Amino acid sequence: VDLESSDTLLTSTSPTDIRLMWHPLSSQHSRGAVTRYRIEYSAVDHVDTVFSVEVGGNETQFTLKELQPNQAYRLRIAAGTVVGFGVPSEWARHHTLAHYDHMIFAPTELKVRARENTLNVTWQPSPNHTLASGYKLSCREVEADDSTNRQRTAQTHTIRLRKKARYHLLTGLAHDRQYEVRVWAFNKQTEGAAAVWKGRTDRSTEKRKTSSPPPLRPIPLPPSSIQAKANSSTSIWLRWEKPRFSNVRIINYTVRCSPAGTTNASLVTYYTSSAQEVLLGSLRPFTRYELAVQSNGVDVVGPFSGTVEESTLPDRPSTPPEELQLSALDSSSVLVSWRPPLEPNGIIISYKILYSGNLSEPEHSWKNLSQDGSITSVEVQGLSSDTHYFFKLGAATEVGPGPYSAIKDVHTFLQKYELDIHAVTGIIVGVCLGLICILLCMCFRASCL
Ligand SMILES: *[C@@H]1O[C@H](CO)[C@@H](O)[C@H](O)[C@H]1NC(C)=O
Ligand SMILES: *[C@@H]1O[C@H](CO)[C@@H](O)[C@H](O)[C@H]1NC(C)=O
Ligand SMILES: *[C@@H]1O[C@H](CO)[C@@H](O)[C@H](O)[C@H]1NC(C)=O
Ligand SMILES: *[C@@H]1O[C@H](CO)[C@@H](O)[C@H](O)[C@H]1NC(C)=O
Ligand SMILES: *[C@@H]1O[C@H](CO)[C@@H](O)[C@H](O)[C@H]1NC(C)=O
Ligand SMILES: *[C@@H]1O[C@H](CO)[C@@H](O)[C@H](O)[C@H]1NC(C)=O
Ligand SMILES: *[C@@H]1O[C@H](CO)[C@@H](O)[C@H](O)[C@H]1NC(C)=O
Ligand SMILES: *[C@@H]1O[C@H](CO)[C@@H](O)[C@H](O)[C@H]1NC(C)=O
Repeated sequence: VDLESSDTLLTSTSPTDIRLMWHPLSSQHSRGAVTRYRIEYSAVDHVDTVFSVEVGGNETQFTLKELQPNQAYRLRIAAGTVVGFGVPSEWARHHTLAHYDHMIFAPTELKVRARENTLNVTWQPSPNHTLASGYKLSCREVEADDSTNRQRTAQTHTIRLRKKARYHLLTGLAHDRQYEVRVWAFNKQTEGAAAVWKGRTDRSTEKRKTSSPPPLRPIPLPPSSIQAKANSSTSIWLRWEKPRFSNVRIINYTVRCSPAGTTNASLVTYYTSSAQEVLLGSLRPFTRYELAVQSNGVDVVGPFSGTVEESTLPDRPSTPPEELQLSALDSSSVLVSWRPPLEPNGIIISYKILYSGNLSEPEHSWKNLSQDGSITSVEVQGLSSDTHYFFKLGAATEVGPGPYSAIKDVHTFLQKYELDIHAVTGIIVGVCLGLICILLCMCFRASCL
């Protein structure tokens, strides 16, 4: 923590106190979580009598009380972790208010809402503001450079405001600049103590759009040489190399994974890896995936790389063929038809039809019939007439067979029905032959006479 830096503020709201405000130490500098801060101070006239107070690591301000009015003090602050305190800041000086100077306390709860070109300053009246005849507000730009000339002062505007004023909008400011705003009450006899705020206007959004990457925040480049290799029907290995040029320390990488060509955001998954490879799991078999990788630094993420594509390996079908249908054609044949499985998980190379007249027979003694994977109907012949048959059907990819469909049954026609037709035909033929014989005989006898 640096008390002299523009991030830290020393103010007085009454002649006997000094208020410190600081910014928490960034984790890069603290080498561990900050658990406490120690503030040391002494009057400049008595430098050998140093007082100190400790506050929690979650605090960013503290008010030293019961000090001497109109007295110069020096203060410094050190951040501590569980291990101990770090190097304290340089000594900073602050002069407490003199009684006679500042009879009116500073306004309280000074808040400033910073935008790109404006600061909206709000405050609450000081405890004895009834004595005030109005407020004054000053604003100046502060150069927050760590050079020797720490605070180059630009012109200061001081504005007088009515006694009832509780806010004021400062406009026409430059973006991304450090400003110091002071607000104090005044009356005819005296000027009150000022409440002080220091902070930045927002960065310009226009500038952010046109300059990429923004100069203050270097962005890590995406990794190079991204290679994807299917590892199983549900997993793909993705490997990559660190970006060749990067001025940002990369902490880890984010992998984006989605089925190729999807527009459904809920099918996109993200994985984080601190290594330069990741095994993407829980994928769908025999599916093409689009993969991209992004580098992450501390509090900054880079853009995604271009996509690479890879398919998972095929697997056995995970569902049976659909819509198995049976229809008896005659006493010895049945037409079997179906549709391919919903989840074939590969190219169907064959279908196997199992059938039996006895449902309680073990599966291996059922009759089986293999068909090419491109066929979706077949006539099963050589069945017994007037018999109940049970059928089931499974599909197989190059990896192996999937589950069988539910069993369906069919009844073949009666042979007797067909025999009757033959008998009738035989009788008709016999009768005809008889008639022809009789006619021939009659003709023969007539020719003899
Ligand atoms: C800091 O932590 C202490 C104890 O947990 C709590 O009482 C205090 O309100 C906290 N202060 C801030 C500014 O969060
Ligand atoms: C404001 O209040 C403080 C403390 O009560 C007092 O010392 C000071 O004189 C008051 N100011 C005026 C102008 O009366
Ligand atoms: C400034 O803040 C005051 C008080 O919160 C609010 O009433 C006012 O609308 C704000 N003005 C702008 C321009 O944001
Ligand atoms: C998948 O990855 C594991 C772990 O590296 C490996 O043991 C296995 O052999 C891989 N399988 C295939 C099919 O490459
Ligand atoms: C997106 O995918 C989810 C999960 O598979 C699904 O529930 C949802 O219906 C899909 N939405 C669209 C628009 O396809
Ligand atoms: C990846 O890095 C970021 C930024 O440092 C961090 O917030 C996140 O927890 C890390 N994720 C993993 C899985 O390590
Ligand atoms: C059906 O198969 C079972 C088991 O093989 C056998 O015990 C039974 O006798 C068979 N039934 C007929 C009608 O063949
Ligand atoms: C299919 O039937 C043949 C004889 O018809 C038999 O040798 C073979 O083991 C059967 N295969 C299966 C898987 O049942």
